[in-house]
Amino acid sequence: MTTELSFDAWDEQQQPERAKDTDFDAVMSRRYFLKGASVLGASAFVMTAGLASTTAKAASKAGFKFTPIAANTADAITLPEGFTSQVVIRWGDPLTSNAPEFDHETRGTAASQALVAGDNNDGMDVFVVDGRTILVINNEYTNRSITFGNRETKLPETDDDVNKGKMAHGLTVVELAEINGQWRIVKDSPYNRRVTPDTPFDVAGPVRGSDLIKTSSDPKGVEILGTFNNCGNGKTPWGTYLACEENFNGYFSSYEGENYEQTAEQKRYGIAKGGKDWGYKWAQTDDRFDVSKEPNEAHRHGWVVEVDPSGRKKPVKLTALGRFKHENAEVVIAKDGRAVVYLGDDERGEFLYRFVSRDRYQPNGDNSTLLHEGSLFVAKFNDNGQGEWMNLADAGMAPDETLVFARLAASKLGATTMDRPEGVAANPHKEEAYVALTNNKYRGERESQPLNMANPRAKNPYGHIVRWVPAGADHAADTFAWDMYVMAGNPTVHSDLMAGSSNINADNMFNSPDGLKFDAAGNLWIQTDGNYSNENGFAGMGNNQMLIGDPETGEIHRFLVGPNECEITGLTWSADRKTMFVGVQHPGEDGNSHWPEGGQAVPRSAVIAVKRTDGGLIG
Ligand code: FEO
Ligand code: CA
Ligand code: CA
Ligand code: CA
Repeated sequence: MTTELSFDAWDEQQQPERAKDTDFDAVMSRRYFLKGASVLGASAFVMTAGLASTTAKAASKAGFKFTPIAANTADAITLPEGFTSQVVIRWGDPLTSNAPEFDHETRGTAASQALVAGDNNDGMDVFVVDGRTILVINNEYTNRSITFGNRETKLPETDDDVNKGKMAHGLTVVELAEINGQWRIVKDSPYNRRVTPDTPFDVAGPVRGSDLIKTSSDPKGVEILGTFNNCGNGKTPWGTYLACEENFNGYFSSYEGENYEQTAEQKRYGIAKGGKDWGYKWAQTDDRFDVSKEPNEAHRHGWVVEVDPSGRKKPVKLTALGRFKHENAEVVIAKDGRAVVYLGDDERGEFLYRFVSRDRYQPNGDNSTLLHEGSLFVAKFNDNGQGEWMNLADAGMAPDETLVFARLAASKLGATTMDRPEGVAANPHKEEAYVALTNNKYRGERESQPLNMANPRAKNPYGHIVRWVPAGADHAADTFAWDMYVMAGNPTVHSDLMAGSSNINADNMFNSPDGLKFDAAGNLWIQTDGNYSNENGFAGMGNNQMLIGDPETGEIHRFLVGPNECEITGLTWSADRKTMFVGVQHPGEDGNSHWPEGGQAVPRSAVIAVKRTDGGLIG
């Protein structure tokens, strides 16, 4: 029965819950307080939204000032005066001298794609290895109309097309050098490599050897091929990279076709009834992506993976961190030395998680197994501004099932369904963390997703950012206090809750916060992946963008606007903090960009380097 519906539309058909009438005013009229943070009572921000326009012409922390920029719809990068940018690495750029330059006619082959930068760069981080600058980049997915734009159908038509798309996924590891002020790829560096959907990974943690992940090619359940759909990322204090597998379900299909019936677990994780994938067709060239042939293969994806930037160690799937649609992995060290990893599950009505390691971080020791064993918790946000972390081990499921089907365990515990948890970022200067809840058209519409104080707007078209402070300033504590850092909105169109919180005004409005990251100075950077129509409720917001938020005052200022139809995603800094690397993903996803090359060029996702013209620190 699955037809050409979008995944959202399909999902709606499968689970047609009817909206319950919800007493919105009752939910919003209660105030909650958080000591030491802004006091944001719901009725308070209704009254002040749009009025408390910040007139500051400069932001933010000491040493980093700029004049905020206006929203726009230019097919270009826009920055404040005093800042410049250059393109560093684009989809298809060669990592070695034997790889071809990008071919705008064919857009490459499977063989060429394996030797060049992957597509749709998302999370990334810089590492200094042996004195060299190594950038590790997630290549989340591909846009069929761009990757296969040379084909009449705009779809993969041959096996080589299918494999080209597959090789555009995974990670790109590349050495960069700054030459005469410009960042360049160091071609043929021994560090340059691709990690692809075919690269072997070790399996660590409680799911290693579990029957749930055994397949015909891995009867012991100890080695998994590949990582793909890596969205956000994490960086550990011991110098490894965490890549987060997000929409893995969209790659599995069944050539039993409509006769294929999902299990309840597959349904919860979005494996499609009738064996439809998202058009990638990987099962056409690789049987493990056919769920009727290898039903356990899908259990081997949807994890966080740990990668050694130097390439010396085999990468690892970290099963203790649970399986879901991972956004990013924000690592902090708790007071007693245990590693805490905050994790969002990016789907409407899914949850926010926290991993706490069993062992303690050794500042000068071997931490290679620190994320292999520990406890996984899920968040409950109470309406009184308090919250708790609930241990998934209490859900009454077997240990391996608890992790492979973490969503089911979390539901049994009664966790708070959230408005699509995207990036989580922890403040390096105080014990607090933030999660971007990007938007959720089902909020208040589905019985499983009622309005609550942490997700207070019906259909939430703009998104919001929730902040929490762990009890006793200890990230390993089991309770926390929370408040709302910002509710995005449009005060030029709305005068109700859709106007946003009081720190949103006509000059800084945006929608759909996604990537979040703190810089070393303590600024919160907010990247958007939202509606760029610039019309109706989104009028005046322009293209997707990056803003800077002050965690103390709540002030938010727009710093960067991206080209048409892109998402701004991925953020990291050079070791000297004089360069900020920013990701530009899928410019022209609907056919209306030629960035970065212009003219009639194929639009290409790319990482840019942003600097101050005076050579100062940038964050
Ligand atoms: Fe890949 Fe949740 O964004
Ligand atoms: Ca994201
Ligand atoms: Ca997003
Ligand atoms: Ca994206």
